[in-house]
Amino acid sequence: MRVLTIIPTYNELESLPKTVGRLRAACPEVDVLIADDNSPDGTGELADRLSAEDANIHVLHRKGKEGLGAAYLAGFAWGLERGYDVLVEMDADGSHQPEQLPRLLQASEAGADLVIGSRWVPGGEVVNWPLSRKLISRTGSFVSRFFLGLKLRDITAGYRAYKASTLRGLDLGAVDSVGYGFQVDMTFRTARAGFSITEVPITFVEREFGESKMSGSIIQEAGVNVVKWGLAARWETLRSKVGR
Ligand code: GDD
Ligand code: MN
Repeated sequence: MRVLTIIPTYNELESLPKTVGRLRAACPEVDVLIADDNSPDGTGELADRLSAEDANIHVLHRKGKEGLGAAYLAGFAWGLERGYDVLVEMDADGSHQPEQLPRLLQASEAGADLVIGSRWVPGGEVVNWPLSRKLISRTGSFVSRFFLGLKLRDITAGYRAYKASTLRGLDLGAVDSVGYGFQVDMTFRTARAGFSITEVPITFVEREFGESKMSGSIIQEAGVNVVKWGLAARWETLRSKVGR
C-alpha cells in the first residue's frame, strides 16, 4: 500500500519541520507532499530544503493563497497521477498527531473508503481549545448532520485518509469550496457516492506556533453552502419521487 500524506501550508515556518520530522519518524514508509501557497514567511523555501535532504518529501508550489480546498485538490491530482493507493490529509501545525496516523491507515486497510480522524467520537478529544472553538466545531458538525443527513460526529475534520479509488470515483472538478467547507463538501460527496466512511478517535492538539487561518468568512462560506447543498439534495429526491 503506497501512502502519500499531503500537508497544506500557509505561514507554517515553525511548525512544519516539527510535524514533518515526527511524521517521517512515526511512519517512515509514508511519502510526504507539502502544498505551499507561496507563504510570505518562507515556508516554501523551507519545504524545498526538507525535500532536498529526503527523497520521500516532495513540494508543490502554488502561486498564492487560494484556500485549503484548492491546495488539497492540487495535492490529490499530484498523488493520483503518481499511483498512490491512499491519500492522507494532515495539518502542518501539529494538531494532527503523526503518531496516530497508523490508526487511520489500519481502518483504511480494513476497507474504509474514507477514514476520518474524529474529535467527537468516544475516545476522541481536543487539547487546548477555547470553548468558542469547540462550539464552532460542534455546531459545524451538528448543522452539517442536520442539513445533509450524515450520521457522522466530526464532519469538518481535517485529518483523513482517502483511498485513491474513492477520489477517482468523485467528480473532483466540480468541488469549488475554498475554505474549511471543503471538508464538509468532500464528506457529503463521498457519502452520496455510496462510499463507506469510518471515524476513528484522535486527540487534536491546538497549535503551539503561528496562527489559525480560520475566519468569519470561512465559517460563513461553509454555513451557507451546507444549507444550499442540503436543500438541493432534498429537492432532487422530491423531484425524482414526483417524476415517477
Ligand atoms: N496551502 C494552503 N492554503 N494551506 C492552508 C490555507 C491556504 O489557503 N489555509 C490554511 N492552510 C493550512 C494551514 O497552514 C494548516 O497546515 C492547515 O491548513 C489547517 O489550517 P489551520 O488554520 O491550522 O486550521 P484550524 O486549526 O483553524 O482548523 C482545523 O479545524 C478545522 C475545522 O474542524 C483544521 O483541522 C481544519 O482542517 C478543519 O477543517
Ligand atoms: Mn490548526
